[in-house]
Amino acid sequence: MDAARAVNRFFPGPLLALETSCDETAAAVLVGADIRSNVVASQVDMHRKWGGVVPEAAARAHVEALLPVVDQALGDAGISLADVEAIAVTNRPGLVGALSVGVSAAKALSLWGGAAMIGIHHIEGHVCSVLAAEPDLTPPFLALVVSGGHTELVRVAAWGDYVVVGETLDDAAGEAFDKGARVLGLGYPGGVAIQSAASGGDALRYALPHALPDQRSNFSFSGLKTAVARLVEREGEALNLHDAAASLQQAIVEVLVGKTLATVEALSLETIVVAGGVSANLALRDRIEREAARQGRRVVLPPLSLCTDNAAMIGLAGSLRLMRGERSGYDLDVASSSPL
Ligand code: KG4
Ligand code: ZN
Repeated sequence: MDAARAVNRFFPGPLLALETSCDETAAAVLVGADIRSNVVASQVDMHRKWGGVVPEAAARAHVEALLPVVDQALGDAGISLADVEAIAVTNRPGLVGALSVGVSAAKALSLWGGAAMIGIHHIEGHVCSVLAAEPDLTPPFLALVVSGGHTELVRVAAWGDYVVVGETLDDAAGEAFDKGARVLGLGYPGGVAIQSAASGGDALRYALPHALPDQRSNFSFSGLKTAVARLVEREGEALNLHDAAASLQQAIVEVLVGKTLATVEALSLETIVVAGGVSANLALRDRIEREAARQGRRVVLPPLSLCTDNAAMIGLAGSLRLMRGERSGYDLDVASSSPL
């Protein structure tokens, strides 16, 4: 695709994006494909006390943080609210109270300034985060979306045309990291904690289960938590934390990479996209790139800064939809679960 076409697929005017589906209050400003600002206020310190996200507390924290975050995003981009021509907001899926804060703010801001508004599916946002790395990326491709709430293989036939071809039957990959980290006493959130504890550890030291070997595209991670708990019990004081973290990380990564490569091959696609919080994992990034290259396939990854929840990815998804003429009305609703 030539550069002009890549530019034309993005909404040209200043676009404000909001993301409040879980525990990050986020706002970003985009002009075309250019991310002019990307502000994320994390509630992680608050939720750490309870070892996970408390929905009511998350919603109240968004109420407090959202307008200061928007103000900072506009300031960082060097524009004012009156310059905003469109607003993209996550409206599904997620915590209903948390989503409502972002959607209500988007409606109020749109009513005030007359900016167009578009509601965005959070997972579509994650998939579109790779456009920050490669603005002219063109489907078809297979996307592995791995976050705290989702583990899905999505066949992307065109932007906006998504078919889920595989998913987790129980826990998400991010949950497997988070629950494993809790059992190992490594804290919350678990993904980064496991990744750093795993460095220098021996991934072959402890054997952990690889679930559903007979299913090409579906995942199951709930058995891992139990297996790690049993390992902790069995080894007691003798447990080597680095080796345990490395073994857990490897068990998750091997399953993700193995099933993704089997699926992309079965679908005869050339390109793999990996997105969502777990795509920040360096072992996953490294392994999928190496194994895909061996198959002659290409992997597109989001920049590390856009793997976990952020508003820039919502802006990228919104930008494409706005350019296709889509708009949401003031009846835009929120949903806790919603098919992609
Ligand atoms: O996409 P995200 O920010 O939020 C959801 O939509 O769920 O993903 C958060 C998840 C958490 O489970 C977190 O532990 C995981 O992504 N995560 C990681 C890493 N960074 C974040 N998992 C493994 N390795 C990492 N470096
Ligand atoms: Zn997410």
